[in-house]
Amino acid sequence: MEKQAAWPVHFRYTHFSWGTIVTKPERDSSRSNATPGMPIIRTSNLCKVFRSVKREAGPGGALRTLFSRTYEDKVAVSNVNMSLEAGELVGYIGPNGAGKSTTIKMLTGILVPTSGTIEVAGLVPYQKRQENARNIGVVFGQRSQLYWDLPLIESFELLRAIYSIPRDRYRANLDKFRDVLEMDEFIKTPVRQLSLGQRMRGDFAAAMLHDPQIVYLDEPTIGLDVVAKEAIREFIKGINEERGTTIILTTHDLADVERLCRRIVLIDTGTVIYDGPIERIKTQYGTHRTLTITLTAPQKRMDLPNTELISNEGTMASFRFDRNKVRADELIRIATERYEITDVSIQEPQLESIIRRIYVEGYDDPTLKTPREVVP
Ligand SMILES: Nc1ncnc2c1ncn2[C@@H]1O[C@H](COP(=O)(O)OP(=O)(O)OP(=O)(O)O)[C@@H](O)[C@H]1O
Ligand SMILES: [Mg+2]
Repeated sequence: MEKQAAWPVHFRYTHFSWGTIVTKPERDSSRSNATPGMPIIRTSNLCKVFRSVKREAGPGGALRTLFSRTYEDKVAVSNVNMSLEAGELVGYIGPNGAGKSTTIKMLTGILVPTSGTIEVAGLVPYQKRQENARNIGVVFGQRSQLYWDLPLIESFELLRAIYSIPRDRYRANLDKFRDVLEMDEFIKTPVRQLSLGQRMRGDFAAAMLHDPQIVYLDEPTIGLDVVAKEAIREFIKGINEERGTTIILTTHDLADVERLCRRIVLIDTGTVIYDGPIERIKTQYGTHRTLTITLTAPQKRMDLPNTELISNEGTMASFRFDRNKVRADELIRIATERYEITDVSIQEPQLESIIRRIYVEGYDDPTLKTPREVVP
């Protein structure tokens, strides 16, 4: 069996700085149509409806489908208004089938919107696919952009020719990526023989070789181990901070989002339900805390005011409380008076649990409430 190359130690454990590793590209201003002070990405009432032939069920269904030709419409993206300033790193998140990849495909020019407008660095992507491609880099975690049967290095060479990357720029970028992403060991290996983590590193390099000013990352850490994920996060952070690259990041791993993004756009069933700082959503939804106490001996019945007992096993008991209704120090004081305690801890909700709650219950936007609803 082929031996998997271990991740070299310094890629595994060091935090690299993009600035020290990659020389800043000279930006060719003639290449970009972006107007200073204007958003670099702007969508207005962007919609995508997929139309497909309705399949007839039952015996002879396939034949009936062939003749009946009734269509089914699937609204994948509905009235998305999004605006990004140059240099922003925005998390585009939502449950499966929410419309994230469809939006990204429209931003790249792969898909044509059904209605609405879209502008990326001054261009309408689907009308100017080639010019747009020069401005953007894309990583689809689910699907490689690399040539499956070619050694990685030859994919890079092809991209150099496709994008007409000047030789010195290509050489400088390639040398840096080989170093930062530790690609030397497998750069001559055909892509189909690479491990997922190696392939992903190749895909990142391929997306960045032409110094794009905008990068779309659609689930770039999917399937990676925790160490590889962290390295990729550092890489993303680096290109954003040191190069000022504008990034839209789609991921189901909310640790990626917490680590990298200040702003998130939440989409559900094709519609944007929240666009703003992560902190705001945390303050709004993160009012619940969990108090866990360790007792000297198990207690059958336990109770603390304004709390809900969520578990009581052995000597450990946990209570859920709303920090707007009761203070943690007050609860700890009452608990120490009532029970013999050896340890106390308070857990804050993770972004993950907040987002899960929004997916299940929907987003409750307080700014949309009428004064009547707010004031009882
Ligand atoms: N080519 C297509 N034809 C018909 N329907 C499609 C097509 N592509 C996507 N859809 C539908 O559009 C909706 C949005 O899909 P999309 O891939 O954008 O979701 P997503 O948010 O990226 O989900 P995930 O998190 O699972 O990747 C889904 O209901 C999907 O089935
Ligand atoms: Mg997707």
